[in-house]
This record gives sequence, C-alpha cells and structure tokens, in this order.
Amino acid sequence: MERSQWGTRAGFIMAAVGSAIGLGNIWRFPYVAYENGGGAFFIPYLFALLTAGIPILILEFTIGHRYRGSAPLSFFRMSGKKAEWLGWWAVLVSFVISVYYAVIIAWAMRYTIFAVNQAWGDDTQAFLFGDFLQLGDVPGQTGDIVWGVFIPLVLVWAITLGILLAGVKKGIEAANRIFIPTLVVIFLIIVIRAVTLDGAMMGLNAFFEPNFDAIMDPSVWVAAYGHIFFSLSVAFAIMITYSSYLPKKSDITNNAFITGFANSSFELLAGIGVFAVLGFMAAQSGVEVSEVATAGVGLAFVVFPQIINEFPGLNGLFGVLFFLSLTLAGLTSLMSITETYVAAIAEKFGTSRRKAVAFGGGLAAVISILFATQGGLYFLDLADYYINQFGVAAVGLVEVVMVVWILRKADKLKTHANAISDIQLGGWWKFCLGVITPIVLGYMMFGLLKLNILKEFDNDTGNYEGYSDMFTLFGGVAVAAGALILGILFSLGKWHKSHAEFEEEK
Ligand code: ALA
Repeated sequence: MERSQWGTRAGFIMAAVGSAIGLGNIWRFPYVAYENGGGAFFIPYLFALLTAGIPILILEFTIGHRYRGSAPLSFFRMSGKKAEWLGWWAVLVSFVISVYYAVIIAWAMRYTIFAVNQAWGDDTQAFLFGDFLQLGDVPGQTGDIVWGVFIPLVLVWAITLGILLAGVKKGIEAANRIFIPTLVVIFLIIVIRAVTLDGAMMGLNAFFEPNFDAIMDPSVWVAAYGHIFFSLSVAFAIMITYSSYLPKKSDITNNAFITGFANSSFELLAGIGVFAVLGFMAAQSGVEVSEVATAGVGLAFVVFPQIINEFPGLNGLFGVLFFLSLTLAGLTSLMSITETYVAAIAEKFGTSRRKAVAFGGGLAAVISILFATQGGLYFLDLADYYINQFGVAAVGLVEVVMVVWILRKADKLKTHANAISDIQLGGWWKFCLGVITPIVLGYMMFGLLKLNILKEFDNDTGNYEGYSDMFTLFGGVAVAAGALILGILFSLGKWHKSHAEFEEEK
C-alpha cells in the first residue's frame, strides 16, 4: 500500500504548526510565564526551546522521515523490540491527553455561543463551575452527564474524526490550510484591540517586568521545560508521525526551526494579548494585575468572560472571536494527537485508516465522556498533571537517553538530516540531546518523584491539589503508569506482515 503523503512543504509546516499551536499557547503560556518570573521567564524559556525543544523536534522529524512509520513502527525499524515500546508509550500518552483535551475544546465551543450575548452573566466563576459544569463536591465521583458539555464534545469528535477519515492530504492538510490562517487573522485582531485598551500597558509591564530572583529557582526551569514540550508537541509521538508523511526529498532542520519559531511567536503574541486585557481589567476594577491573573482553566473561562463583559464595545464579537480562536487552535492540535494512535493501530494490525479511526478515535471519544460528567473537572485536572509530568516529560527524557546513549543512533540520524537539509547540524545538536537535556530533565524528574513519593505537597493530604489517596492513585498515578505498562504490552505483539520488512538506507 502506498504511504500517505503531504501535498506540499507548506502543507506539512502548516500541519506541524497547527499541532504545536494549541490550548497550551493561548491559556497555558501566559499564566505559566507570569507565575514563573514574568519577563525573567524568557531566559529559561529560550534556553529550553533552543537546547531541548528544537533539538528534539529535529530528532523526531528525522526519525519519522527516515523510518517512515508511526512512532512505534519507526522505533521498531530503528532498533527492533528494544525500542518499540517507547513509541507505544508516547502513543498512549497522546491517547490519554486526547481524551481530556477534547473536553476543553468542547467548553470553548460552547463558550463561543455563550459569548454572543454574554450568557455567562456577571458572576462568571459561579457560571462556569455551577451553571455550566455543574461541578460536584467530591473529587473522584462522576455524578451525572452534563449535557451542555456532552453535546459540543460529540461535535468536537465528529469534526476531528471526520477530518482524520479524509486522510493526511485531503483531511489534515486541507483543514490546517483553512484553520491556521484563520486563527492567525482572528488572533491578530484580538491582540491589536487588546493593546489599545486602557490599562493595557499596566498588564504588559506585569508580564515583561523581570523578576530575576526567579531565574535562580529550579522550579522555574522545570516549568519552562515542561511547557516547551507541551507547546511544541514533542515527546507525544506526534512529530514522528507527521514527518513520516514527508516525501523523501524534504528539508528537515529548517522545517523544525520554522515550526519552533512560529509556535513561539504565536505564544508571545498570546501572552501580549492576554496580559494587555488583564491590565485593562485590573485598571477597570482598580486592582493589581496579579489579582486578576489566575491559573489555566480559570483564566480562559472565568476571567475572559469577565473581561468581555467590560469591553467598551462589540463585546459579543470579541467574545466570539476569542473562544473561536481557542476552538480552532485546539482542533488542529487534537487532530495531530489522535493521528498518533490512528497511524499506530493501522500499521500494527494492518487495518484500513477507516477502521483505525473508528476503533481508536471511537474508544477515545467514549472514554472522554468521563470528563463530561459533574466530576469531570477533577478527573481532568488530575490526569493532566500526572500525564504531563510522568508522561510527556518522562518520554522526552527516556527518548533522548535511548537514542543517544543506548541505541547510539544520534550520528546516523545527524547524517540523515544533514544530507537533505539546508541548515547543517553540528556537534551542538548531539550535545544538547545527550548532555544538557538529560541533566536538566533528569534533575526535574528526580525532584518530581521525590515530591510525589514523599508527599511533600503543601496541603492536608500531601497529594497534588489535596486530592484523596485513592483518587490520586486511580485517577493519576495509575493513568500515567498504565500508559507505560500498556505500551510495553503492545510492543510484544507482531507487526502486520505489510510492515515487517524495511530496508534501512545507508
Ligand atoms: N502543542 C499543543 C498545545 O500547545 C498540544 O496545546
């Protein structure tokens, strides 16, 4: 069977950028940056981008291009069974992320409609947790299905799986060609309006004012690495899968730099837009910016509706544009996250794309209903914390150590990338992957494990967010550990005969 391919280089870059730009850039980055030293965060952020994000992106593009398979198949072709499990682990991490990521997009979709007449009313916090999510009191109990979330969730999956069914070129590439330029235009309109609001400068000062003490704090560096991985979609199996659809003659290194810088530029733009409006909001209520800047979910779904309420004009329009941009950014990322397991299932079992979408996507859609219940937010928060720290970051660490030190493939991959790319990789690339990244990430994982094992969280139970032991164990630890264990189990099975043979280039 002919392998699917991107139609054009621009189509591939658009898809890779579409995967990278997601919910992480619009609501996660501004707050993470602000919480970790504001302007001073840029130093660890740039360091993590240049020494880990882009080098790993180049690595994943090269692996996908050379071995031409989903992440498990690529690792299998690289070094057999002793590497295949790593591909499955990354794919299963993506599976877990997709099931709750879809739910956040569903909220954004619903909020796009609420925005038309600001149906969220004056108390946007009570509206989000009470009227909209109908959040239960006890973390770990599901309660009933919340139809206001369930219905847009069905729509999110229908759009995503419909696009994946249409294939790589006619589905993913075509959708990104429409969604990404639209997203950029909408976002520029929002940012231009944002920076011209009263008080915008106050917000930007809070965002850019460096807090140099923060640079000395190791947790700030940890946050920068964690964010770069999430934001660039590396260590998710995504970029290996996407680059496996590149034609043989393709640039790799330059494409990775373009993708990395496009993602960071958008992220910076989002930060500027978000803090400009936070400054506006703070000026309206006569408080400090720090009092209006709150974490993740709250920032987008509580503070933004409040800001929209106070906009000087065209409130409905700007509300719709903001939540629409969140929806579009989320959808293009969800497609890529889901494609990792669609491709892996199709190859391992030799099934058609249609069956793989129906089975893999269908299963993810069914599981995601858990997050559309009254207890959904707690499950989402816990799964997100554990899968990011012990899924994405751990896969990244194991990936670089395996490729450079255990399988010793770095030189071969470097030669492969250099033979087809404009920008030539030098010794710095292997040094970043083999030395800098393992040291920083290893230190980060060690600190995190210590925190979780010794239960040093600063609250009653000592667990993340003070959740109970049982809930933490089943909703968090088991989910992250399950991805690794199932990954190993999946790798034990044989490949379908159509994929078993592969002639590696010299
Ligand atoms: N890279 C995607 C994001 O930033 C997953 O949300």
